[in-house]
Amino acid sequence: MSILNGKNVLLGVTGGIAAYKTASLVRLFVKSGANIKVVMTPAAKEFVTPLTLSTLSKNPVHSTFTNEEDDNAIWNNHVDLGLWADVFIVAPATANTLSKMMNGASDNLLLATYLSAKCPVYFAPAMDLDMYKHPASLESFEKLQSFGNIMIPAGSGELASGLVGGGRMAEPEDIVSFIEQDILGKLPLRGKKILITAGPTYEAIDPVRFIGNHSSGKMGFEIAKASANLGAEVVLISGPTHQKVSHSLINVVPVVSAADMYNAVHEHFNTVDVAVLSAAVADFTPKEVSNQKIKKKSDTLTLELGRTKDILASLGDIKTSQYLVGFALETNNELENAKGKLKRKNLNLIVLNSLNDKGAGFKGDTNKVTFIDDAGNITENSLKSKADVAIDLLNKIIENIHA
Ligand code: CTP
Repeated sequence: MSILNGKNVLLGVTGGIAAYKTASLVRLFVKSGANIKVVMTPAAKEFVTPLTLSTLSKNPVHSTFTNEEDDNAIWNNHVDLGLWADVFIVAPATANTLSKMMNGASDNLLLATYLSAKCPVYFAPAMDLDMYKHPASLESFEKLQSFGNIMIPAGSGELASGLVGGGRMAEPEDIVSFIEQDILGKLPLRGKKILITAGPTYEAIDPVRFIGNHSSGKMGFEIAKASANLGAEVVLISGPTHQKVSHSLINVVPVVSAADMYNAVHEHFNTVDVAVLSAAVADFTPKEVSNQKIKKKSDTLTLELGRTKDILASLGDIKTSQYLVGFALETNNELENAKGKLKRKNLNLIVLNSLNDKGAGFKGDTNKVTFIDDAGNITENSLKSKADVAIDLLNKIIENIHA
């Protein structure tokens, strides 16, 4: 899946012959799963029609400050457009528009939108070879990059003038992959590997029965997705759940029992930078597993249970540079108990769920958690979806590992 999937991409088209290629560019952004809107300079409309780009982008295309066709003119809000965008790409970017961008001019909707955008702005110059080499152009490339904009260099080849040289706009495929690679390379967990445990464990009694718990696995799966979306490589060790995930950066390792989970976690732990243990691991397991179905011969059945190994504590014992995160589900004396667990298990961070909070816990779609770290910082959070709790948790981890 493209990193652009679900992102808001704003394409600014300016008046150069390469504008005809923006039809393909819009198609590629749509294919990547991005939401795409187009803003054009008046000159760009000479090269490609707004109708073509609005049809392909499935959104209205704007090029003026007001909607002129309407008797009651509506303001095309460049501020909203600029803030809507997660990514703004000006392609083709003509010498004229680049020079205006550099100087903060805003005499058309595209330029005003550029000045309002808070997201990363890419520009793909397109001009004839002499213009591309001109000191004025070189200065605009440099200055715009010094403002934090990202240049997608032009290629070389035959130009519309018939001359051969630099200045040809990067091909649409190259523009999309440049942006994807650039975003991926800047993700805060790029290059980091995270181990996550999720779900319940099932402790076999006999071939058909087990002792389990109500954990849905949702919290752990949301942490895995959020980690991968931030660029981390994820090993997700999960007990039996109905949760599904498909992401090129997530490797799901299915396990059944606490002992399986212990083994899988230890197999991967020394390769990771961060471990988040959110699974609801059984604390006890039948001492003996019958290899045949137990028959109801008597009125009562006594099972002898033995303690499982505490996976989290075992990692606390052996960790070197790994950042170790555990969960605690408490009903009373919550903060004190969680702080005690943090210390006892040698954790860097503990996520406290209080069963006294409505909407918290391991069954539903929401959670209300408090983060306590090894420096004594306590962060209370409001009731949120588990997806948002996962994002908050990762932001806390990122903040702490970079501190
Ligand atoms: N955990 C684990 N292995 C176990 C049991 C728990 O890794 N065998 C981890 C869970 O994934 C979670 C944390 O330990 O991160 C939860 O601990 P919890 O069960 O709340 O508390 P315990 O430490 O088991 O203590 P107590 O049962 O006394 O509350």
